[in-house]
Amino acid sequence: MDDTVAARAWSPSTLPPLLDGEVARVALGQPIRLKAWVERYGSPLNVVWPELLKRNAEALQAVPRRHGVVLDVYYGAKVNKSQALVRAAVEAGIGVDVSSEYEMRDALRAGADPRRLVATGPAKTERFHRQLVACGSLISVDSVEEFEALQALERQSQPSRRARLLLRYRPASARASRFGMGEADVAHCLRQLAAARDSFAFEGFHFHLGGYDHASRAQALREVMVQVAAAREIGLAAQVIDIGGGLPIRYVEAERYAAFLQSQDATHYRNGKLPTSFYPYGGGLDAPTWLDELLAAPFDATTTVAEALIAQGLRLAIEPGRSLVDQAAISVFRVNRVKALADGRHVVYVEGSSFSACETWFASEYLVDPILQSFGSPHGEAPMRAYIAGHSCLDDDVITNRLIDFATRPAPGDLLVFANTAGYQMDLLENEFHRHPMPRRIAVRNGAAGGVDVSPDD
Ligand SMILES: Cc1ncc(COP(=O)(O)O)c(C=O)c1O
Repeated sequence: MDDTVAARAWSPSTLPPLLDGEVARVALGQPIRLKAWVERYGSPLNVVWPELLKRNAEALQAVPRRHGVVLDVYYGAKVNKSQALVRAAVEAGIGVDVSSEYEMRDALRAGADPRRLVATGPAKTERFHRQLVACGSLISVDSVEEFEALQALERQSQPSRRARLLLRYRPASARASRFGMGEADVAHCLRQLAAARDSFAFEGFHFHLGGYDHASRAQALREVMVQVAAAREIGLAAQVIDIGGGLPIRYVEAERYAAFLQSQDATHYRNGKLPTSFYPYGGGLDAPTWLDELLAAPFDATTTVAEALIAQGLRLAIEPGRSLVDQAAISVFRVNRVKALADGRHVVYVEGSSFSACETWFASEYLVDPILQSFGSPHGEAPMRAYIAGHSCLDDDVITNRLIDFATRPAPGDLLVFANTAGYQMDLLENEFHRHPMPRRIAVRNGAAGGVDVSPDD
């Protein structure tokens, strides 16, 4: 396919995305191919690289081996609705963290071993509990109330196998969170578990924290070790501590990002509001380095976190969502129109809506600039600043509130390519507003002779 004809990629200069080589080959280097895909599957189009999940999983798994720690990885399937990504996780030999019976169904459909599923989330239904127990999957118990529901289930149906449980602990740093249990509730559940060993197999503890630093996880691990000791005292041997997700990824260069944060103010936003929080898009750490630093962090005066886990005979479990899908998708929007507004500013309308790209609905912003692929007659290098809006009639349906610096004016039919969207950015809030068809996902695989094959990933 000749990708040179009258097509040009304009890499952004303010917050250009860090791009995996394979993704860059398509996102930057093959505009005609991208355009053909959008014509065939519609806009916005989510293009997924499942093989990159496998590569990310391998990179993570290599880290604890160096520390002598046994690691269980569960792919946090909530991060993206792609079935190809779930299949890639299964093919990579890792488990899956499922938060609903539907995620569980899809993981099983992808060939997952039911014993390598962990069910998290605070409001599991009775049906979900039944399926989890019947399949021998691991259940993270969020509350005393959830534990009582499991006890009731066991009394009613006397399942043939014991329910495998983790207790979700609420670390001190997350006191105000509604997720997990404080010490008293954990102690209560432990006593109940000790008295009901025929029904329940206690396997360990779980927590998940917001934020992306590893110091808070090391502190939470110290607290959980106290629970591990308390459980041992009543004859319950924990085998694993599951520290949830929150491993960071890098979207843009750290220095460029820091400079941008320093320089931006409310005038850079169409609504005159500077968001108060952002994902750390230009953080210095990738997930494997984060895990390495966590395992090497001091647990106490004489031991590291890794040594403490080994000394207690504990496996470490993690449930990465975002970091396993790092680089694994792009989202492509077709430009519909550029409109001059009364205040002298411009808006770029795209086919698609902000429901597909989620940050603006959380009063934040995706601080990664889109790549502009322009087609047809050259527009001349007339730079312009504009925000990007979806096609709906809602004023707040914007892909960016931020005014983006375009090196040239986008034209109808051009494409805006957002990189690294697999982690919560592309398809969580999709709908059929204005009866537009749901955006499609396609999965890319390397084909023969350096080409790529795509297939629908619905
Ligand atoms: C319990 C639990 N585990 C794992 C994750 C995945 O987190 P992340 O995508 O940041 O790795 C989440 C996300 O909300 C979660 O709630």
